[in-house]
Amino acid sequence: MNRCAMPDKPILLTGFMGSGKSSVARLLAERLGCPLIDLDAEIVSAAGCSINEIFSSKGEAVFRQLESDQLQRVLARNECVLIATGGGVVISPGNRSLMREKGIIVNLDVSLEQVLGRLAGCNDRPLLAGDQVEERVRTLMESRQQFYADAHIRIDTNGKSVEDVAAEVLCRLKGF
Ligand code: S3P
Repeated sequence: MNRCAMPDKPILLTGFMGSGKSSVARLLAERLGCPLIDLDAEIVSAAGCSINEIFSSKGEAVFRQLESDQLQRVLARNECVLIATGGGVVISPGNRSLMREKGIIVNLDVSLEQVLGRLAGCNDRPLLAGDQVEERVRTLMESRQQFYADAHIRIDTNGKSVEDVAAEVLCRLKGF
């Protein structure tokens, strides 16, 4: 497997839950030969409990604060890393401007149908717990669409394999 040149800035993968960020990030990090940081894992480690527990015992606002804190922390190191973000990182205007200033934002675009298929039966995403999942996912996706679109690179992932998406990202990164 060929190594590719890593840009001299962090790469931030954004996208809705189920867009394939974690799988694509693993492959990309391997091909770029760079460290991979999973922002959700950083939050869990800082909080000492799972994302489900943070949401249920402290609420979403506390989760969002932890998310912004961890984003700031990893970007302050000014290291060339690949960062897989959580789907909601784009909600905060502060997170969006920090990501734009410090790194290259790569958004993985995905359709509602693909998300619903991929997340069926998943129980580690508190925002998807409960009834009327399709309606809630649609509303959440619509409300975030403009924020996901504000990326340096946007890849349509629908119907593509993880390998294809990673290859497309690598190709588009050559311009940076
Ligand atoms: C969230 C996405 C999740 C996680 C949390 C909230 C969101 O990450 O950060 O459950 O608001 O979209 P993934 O996108 O990695 O599933």
